[in-house]
Order: sequence, then structure tokens, then C-alpha cells
Amino acid sequence: MAQTDPESPAGDAAGGTVEGGGDHGGSWGFSTRAIHAGQDPEPTTGAVTVPVFQTSTFAQEAVGKHSGYEYARTGNPTRTALQTALAALEGAAFGVSFASGLAAEDAILRLLEPGDHIVMGNDAYGGTFRLIAKVFGRMGITWSAHDLTDPSELDRNWPEATKLVWVETPTNPLLTVVDLAAVSAVARRRSGARLVVDNTFATPYLQQPLAHGADIVVHSTTKYLGGHSDVVGGFVATDDPEVHDHLTFIQNAVGAVPAPWDCYLTLRGSKTLSVRMDRHNDNAAAIVELLQAHPGVTSVLYPGLPGHPGHEAATRQMSGYGGMISFRVGSRDGAMRVTEATELFTLAESLGAVESLIEHPGAMTHLSAAGSPLEVPDDLVRLSVGIEDVADLVADLAQALERL
Ligand SMILES: Cc1ncc(COP(=O)(O)O)c(C=O)c1O
Repeated sequence: MAQTDPESPAGDAAGGTVEGGGDHGGSWGFSTRAIHAGQDPEPTTGAVTVPVFQTSTFAQEAVGKHSGYEYARTGNPTRTALQTALAALEGAAFGVSFASGLAAEDAILRLLEPGDHIVMGNDAYGGTFRLIAKVFGRMGITWSAHDLTDPSELDRNWPEATKLVWVETPTNPLLTVVDLAAVSAVARRRSGARLVVDNTFATPYLQQPLAHGADIVVHSTTKYLGGHSDVVGGFVATDDPEVHDHLTFIQNAVGAVPAPWDCYLTLRGSKTLSVRMDRHNDNAAAIVELLQAHPGVTSVLYPGLPGHPGHEAATRQMSGYGGMISFRVGSRDGAMRVTEATELFTLAESLGAVESLIEHPGAMTHLSAAGSPLEVPDDLVRLSVGIEDVADLVADLAQALERL
């Protein structure tokens, strides 16, 4: 879908290719890329950090003769830097940023036409389900939910019109792990179906889906990439030039673009992704230990546990198990009591930031999936373990668990 917009050159500067930043995205290590890819000092002033180009338009020397930027919906240098940096983190040729994770998902879903089908997992972020079922479902696009932990089931029951296979791994909120190479092998056998992976929970530091057969990677950068609960955003990475053309066209044609200040905040947050993720991993491991030892907790859902059904796949495709943990307590009342009793773990939606959060998915983030195949158990509690001192987190959760 390589359409061009007569009002936009949508060239490399606007699209944000890795090569476009003049960086060493391919050879640098992860943390170096996070700090430097697409982030050379600003040439006019030497500013070391990428400035917030808070402008809606750009002066032209003559009609059509400009620096590569003409109008800020089409392209903005702060956004280019963000796109280049995040693409480098995913090891992708192209990156395109959006105003939210759902706007990024919406842009991908616009690859489809009436009559096309989406295969999705039977556990996913409720907002993704709402977008697919209630927005795209009304436009003649069909969907089905599958247990993607069993790719042979998908192979046997493959809907012929499938154009996208939409995978989250680990999933929100049940922390289910999908073997990306196995699902990608099924999708590859069926010509024309692209594999989309929502990498929000793992982050590119722990998992790079393009290396495991994904065609498109999507993020809510609101979460770990931004990392500080201060900005909403979305991002898509791909190596496929056709998908990239489609995304930049939609970015400009629909206009769900992130503001320059939001790009700056996300870029600033993503510089420290590796050190934050190491601490999230460590803190989560201590919290898992506490939960496992508690008699009131009936199950702990965390891919780092050897007994987790997806542990082997997670170990193959991830370099750490992340900061998200869910657990069940046997009753909705118990779950409500625990979520309302913590002090350091703030009761709030969202995840992936420096501060710890707790929530009840059934009544909060996943309410929109109630009554669907993606409905979540009502005794489930979800934790986003932050990077505070682990002893304080353990003490806080331990006193809340006394309410069980
Ligand atoms: C896994 C996942 N994907 C996508 C989204 C949507 O992102 P946003 O809230 O930035 O639109 C979320 C939001 O919670 C999420 O958890």
C-alpha cells in the first residue's frame, strides 16, 4: 500500500528510518543505541539532548525547497529522533510513532479490508480486543480468539481469510507466553498473513520479536519505554517497506501523531530502559517469592517460574522475565481487599513505570472484555513491580496480603 500523499513527501526524515539518523544503530550495544541512536548533538547549537521542536510548521526557502520538514503532522525532528531510536532498539529498519498505543494498533489494523480476518490470542489487553471487535468488527473485518500457546490448534482451525495474527507475549493480564517462532511458522505457511507482536510487557530489552519471525512489532510506549507514568504514546517497528509506507501514510493521513514534548519525554525515558528493566526483573523475583509462600494466594502467574507453562518458550525468546506479575486469591472480595490495602503499590491502571502499581483487571483494565472469550477471572490481581527498594515493596505487599 505504497500510496503517497500529494501534501507530504513523507521521506526518510519524516518516517524515521534507522539509517536516516546517521548513527551506528546496527553495531552498537543496546544501551548505547538507547542513548545515541538518532540522537546526534543538534547541529546548529550543539545541544547534546534532542530539542523539543515545538513548532507546527517549517520555513521553506522556495516553494517545495525545505530541510525535509514542512508541516509537523507529517514530520517533526523530535519525533524522527524518537522513531530512529526505538527502531534501533527493536533491531528494525523502520519505526513510526503515534499518539497512543491504541492509535499505533489502529494504524496497523488499517492494513485490512472488509472480508479480512484477524486471529488473536484468547488473552490480550482489553483495549486491543475492544478496538478489533467493536471498531474494526463494524467495518466488515472478522476476528477469532485462539489459544496461541497451542499453535497446532491454530494450524488445524486456520480461518482462510486471515491477514493478521495478533499476538501478545507475555499477555496482559494472565502473563501467558506464546512461542513466537512456532506461531510465525504457522502464519508463514499461510501466504499473506502477517504476524503482529505487542511487545509492551517484555520491551525490546528483554525480547525482540522481529528476530523470532514477527513482521510488525507494536508498543504502548506509555509503559516501560516511557517508563515514568508521565506520557501516553505508541510505536510500531517493522522491516517491511510496504508496511512502513502504509504506516507513514496513515500517520499523516489520519494524524494521530505524538506531540513534540511527548516524543521528548518518551525519548528521555527510553534512554534508561536497560537499567530500569534489570531492576524490574530483580524486584519482581522477590515479590514472586513472597506470593508463592503466602497461603492465601492460590496461584502466581509469572513466566520466570519453572512451573509456568510458558517458562521454556520465555527462556528461549526473552532475556529476562520482566516486572509484571499476576496472582489469584480465590475470591473477588479477597482481590478487592488486597488491591485496596497497599500503600506503596498505587491502585491505578497502567504499568511499566518506576513506581509500583496494583490493580483488579476484571473491574479496571479488562472491563471491556467482560462477557467475551477474553474475560479475565475476577479473583485476579495484577502488579506492575516498580524500581523502589525491594524490601519496602515486599513489606507493603505482605501487610496487604494479611487482609486475605
Ligand atoms: C499490552 C498493551 N498494549 C496496548 C495498550 C494500549 O496502549 P495505550 O494505553 O498507550 O493506548 C496497552 C495499555 O494498557 C497494553 O497494556
